[in-house]
Amino acid sequence: MSRKLRSQHWFGGLDKDAFIHRSWMKNNGLPDDVFDGRPVIGICNTFSELTPCNAHFRGLIEHIKAGVLEAGGLPVEFPVFSCGESNLRPTAMLFRNLASMDVEEAIRGNPIDGVVLMAGCDKTTPSLVMGAASCDLPSIVISGGPMLNGRFRGRTIGSGTDVWKFSEDVRAGVMSQKDFQAAESAMSRSPGHCMTMGTASTMASIVEALGLALPGNAAVPAVDAERARLARLTGRRIVGMVAEDLRLSKILTRAAFANAIRVNGAVGGSTNAVVHLLAIAGRTGTPLSLDDWDRFGRDVPTILNLMPSGRYLMEDFYYAGGLPVVMKEIADLLDLDALTVTGNSVGANIEGVENFNDDVILPRDRPLTASGGIAVLRGNLAPSGAIIKPSAATPALMQHRGRAVVFETIDHYKARVDDPDLDIDETSLMVLKNCGPRGYPGMAEVGNMALPQKLLKKGVRDMVRISDARMSGTAFGTVVLHTAPEAAVGGPLALVRDGDFIELDVAGRRLHLDVDDAELACRKAEWTAPVPDMTRGYQGLYVERVMQADTGADLDFLVGGSGHAVPRESH
Ligand code: FES
Ligand code: MG
Repeated sequence: MSRKLRSQHWFGGLDKDAFIHRSWMKNNGLPDDVFDGRPVIGICNTFSELTPCNAHFRGLIEHIKAGVLEAGGLPVEFPVFSCGESNLRPTAMLFRNLASMDVEEAIRGNPIDGVVLMAGCDKTTPSLVMGAASCDLPSIVISGGPMLNGRFRGRTIGSGTDVWKFSEDVRAGVMSQKDFQAAESAMSRSPGHCMTMGTASTMASIVEALGLALPGNAAVPAVDAERARLARLTGRRIVGMVAEDLRLSKILTRAAFANAIRVNGAVGGSTNAVVHLLAIAGRTGTPLSLDDWDRFGRDVPTILNLMPSGRYLMEDFYYAGGLPVVMKEIADLLDLDALTVTGNSVGANIEGVENFNDDVILPRDRPLTASGGIAVLRGNLAPSGAIIKPSAATPALMQHRGRAVVFETIDHYKARVDDPDLDIDETSLMVLKNCGPRGYPGMAEVGNMALPQKLLKKGVRDMVRISDARMSGTAFGTVVLHTAPEAAVGGPLALVRDGDFIELDVAGRRLHLDVDDAELACRKAEWTAPVPDMTRGYQGLYVERVMQADTGADLDFLVGGSGHAVPRESH
């Protein structure tokens, strides 16, 4: 290594401090010569048995370590808070920012020259990238990879997406409880994360589109030997990145974010990508707004035929050629000069790739949806914006005016939705309040609230739903999300009452509450803020300092970065 690396400030001296740093590291079995100035590569591991999507990381990391060693680096593994989607209550999103703080401080405080970020489950990817971005060392992401396709009684089933469908079938009385249970084992049949284009696959695609992962990273299944090879190559590459001082800030430019938004449209990615990408941009100081999502994504066709928008799954996507093929297909919409972790441009990375299945990755002239992406809605109901994913919605409902049926909280919704006397029909709009960042707290994935049982039994399968919540990336429906400001801080959503008329016009990007300003002012005067359940500890800090969805729901004091300098010794 031609220059003195950061880790040498720990390991390179002759004084008592260097003695301490080296001596204690030696109890890992390290000989003297590993402290000779070679790159020390931190491997940030989100392994946890409570995050089943990342539970195979103990095996995967061995391949990363082998790659680091082959390239002449010293690999050191460190664990961080594992933000698992399927178990964490009240929602993993509440802890994304906490995990990012853990990652940031662990990187900065330690003798590390470059970082491999091992991500998989939904929130693990953004939390790692956010934390690393605030330190700005050379960093590369390796995803754990998706599960194999779910298989249930001869048919293919997708993570999440088929849970929502089966659950509605049970509520509608067309699927037995016994069959519902049998589907559990069939859905998650290998290590890996959700294999639909849910948030995990979306964020794996986004980091690849941003240039933060090696080409092909997004789609390779967790159990395919190619995933292990990719891990090994990732380990080798980070050593080169340290030599080149290829830091995150050189890759995370506005052009890279624009590419990621366009790729999200092309793959029919999750609405959750909106808050995550805004939060990552916030950490790097890159200008990016909610409206950029509409601006960059508006005319991008969805060409990836994956659930929930289409019919295939990540395993099929891998066999078809993976994300580089999608990027090649929409190359005219991308900034091909954007730099990536390979040291090459996006354009160079996707040269010569081939589509092996044009029913999975569709040609541009027969897309799944002509304008995919995310639509950003505004109006007196969402002055700071709200979003909808048109490719997951019912075309006939995208322009709709109807009566609101209001649920004040998620508990109110649960107590009321199946009441046979509830005054609701398929033309109503379901409005759910107090499920935003501060309200829930943590902005839970409850925006795709299940329809009333009596309407499901009539065969109704979609209705307009509006909330300040998020929805799972595996979900679908005409669902307006992330309404800002949220109800819990007194946003207009808080003022909606049963029977009010609401107008949704996706093409016109409009969300309008048909109640006059004077009446709204009276209602606002009567409104009182809900009292948070938890006021101490991290959750207390979170509700006090969390920002709104339109700026990424980060904690306000985490915006920006502090670099990676640490002036003081510990002893
Ligand atoms: Fe972990 Fe879906 S629950 S990726
Ligand atoms: Mg999810």
